[in-house]
Amino acid sequence: MRLKRGENPVAQLRRVFCFWGLNMDKEFDLDTLAVRAGITRSQFNEHAEALYLTSSFVFDNAAQAAARFSGEEDGFVYGRFSNPTVSMLQERLAALEGGEACIATASGMAAILSTVMALMKAGEHIVASQGIFGATQQLFGGILSRFGVDTTFVASNAPAAFSAALRPQTKLVFIETPSNPLTEVFDIAALAEVAHAGGALLAVDNCFCSPALQRPLALGADLVIHSATKYLDGQGRVLGGAVVGRKELAEEVFKFLRTAGPSISPFNAWIILKGLETLRIRMAAQSAAALELARWLEAQPQVARVYYPGLPSHPQHALAMRQQKAGGAIVSFEVKGGREEAWRLVDATRLISITANLGDTKSTITHPASTTHGRISAEARAASGIRDSLLRVAVGLESVADLQADLARGLALI
Ligand SMILES: Cc1ncc(COP(=O)(O)O)c(C=O)c1O
Repeated sequence: MRLKRGENPVAQLRRVFCFWGLNMDKEFDLDTLAVRAGITRSQFNEHAEALYLTSSFVFDNAAQAAARFSGEEDGFVYGRFSNPTVSMLQERLAALEGGEACIATASGMAAILSTVMALMKAGEHIVASQGIFGATQQLFGGILSRFGVDTTFVASNAPAAFSAALRPQTKLVFIETPSNPLTEVFDIAALAEVAHAGGALLAVDNCFCSPALQRPLALGADLVIHSATKYLDGQGRVLGGAVVGRKELAEEVFKFLRTAGPSISPFNAWIILKGLETLRIRMAAQSAAALELARWLEAQPQVARVYYPGLPSHPQHALAMRQQKAGGAIVSFEVKGGREEAWRLVDATRLISITANLGDTKSTITHPASTTHGRISAEARAASGIRDSLLRVAVGLESVADLQADLARGLALI
C-alpha cells in the first residue's frame, strides 16, 4: 500500500486509481494484503472500504468529461467500467495473486468469456484440459466453436499430451487445477513452458485453491481466472469473477469489458472485498477439515474411491503438495453402486446442503453427473471421468464429526 496519511483523498484517488487494479506493492505478506491492499478513502476518511453505489460520476466541466472519456485524465466515468469499490477489489486481488493487474467481472464464466473474447479471434485455437467445469466445457466446445474458435480437450494431465495438442493457431492453454469435481492436479510450471514454447498463453482457473493456497503467476502462468463466487466471497452470497495477469493482457480484457459490459456490481465487489479479508484462515481451516473427512471417507466400506489432493492415494499428491499450500476443501468420492446409491446418500443428509455451489462456510453436497455436468454429453462426461456414482462435498466450517455423522447416515443405506 502507498496510502499516505493526510493526503487529499481526491489526489489519492487519482494517484492510486486505475481501471484495472494495479498491484501496488510486494512488500507485505498475504495476510496483510488481504485486509489492507487496495484501500482508497473518500473525503470522510472512513476506515472500512466504502461501497459506491452509483452508476456514473460527475465531471467538473465538458473538457473534463472529454478527457475522462478519452483516457487523457484518470478518474471514474461510468459504472460499466469504473467504480472505486470495484477498483479496490481489483487492486487487492492483483496483490494477492502477485499480478500486475486485475479485471473483476460479473461471474467466473464472465471472466472466462471476457478473456477469450479479449485475446482471441476466429481461426485461433484453445487447448483445454478435459476435466474442467461443465459450463467452461460448453463455452469452449459449443458456443465458441460457432465463432470460429476451436478447442481441443486433453484427457490427460501429462504436459506431453498438451504439447501434442498444440497447433500453430493455438493462442490459449486453459487448465483448472485442482479440477472440478475430480480434483485432478496439473503441473502449472511445466504447462507454462509447454504453452510458451507453442507461442500460447497459459490461463489457470484458480477457483479451488484461491491465492491463499496457490499462486499460478509465480509458477509461470500468464493469467489467473477466478469464480469469485466461490472462496473469494466464501460465504455463498454473491456472484463475481476476475482475471489477473500482466498489465497489457488485463488492458485487453478491460477494453472488452468496457464495451461489452460483463461487469461486476459494486455491491458484489464490496462483499468479495470483505470476503478476501478472511480468505487465508478460511482456506486453512476448511482444508484441514477436508483432509480429515477425506481420510474418514477412505476408510468407509461403501466408498469405492476418494479424490482429494491431500491424500497420499491421490495420483498427483506429490505435485499438489509441491504446488499448493494445502489440499483445498473439495472432497469428491465414488460410492459403491451408481446413481441410485449416490442419490440415496445425498437424500439422507440433514446438515450438508444439497446445492451446486461450493466455497461456502456451509458444507455442500453435489451429484455432478446430474447437476453441474448434467448438460454436457454423456460421452464428454465419461471422457471427463464423471461417473454416476460420484459425489462432491465442498467442506465448510462445521465440525468434522457432525459432517461425518451426516454422511454416515446415507452410507449406512448403501
Ligand atoms: C472451477 C470453476 N470455474 C468457473 C466457475 C464458474 O463460476 P461462476 O458460477 O461464478 O460463473 C465455476 C462454478 O462453479 C467453477 O467451479
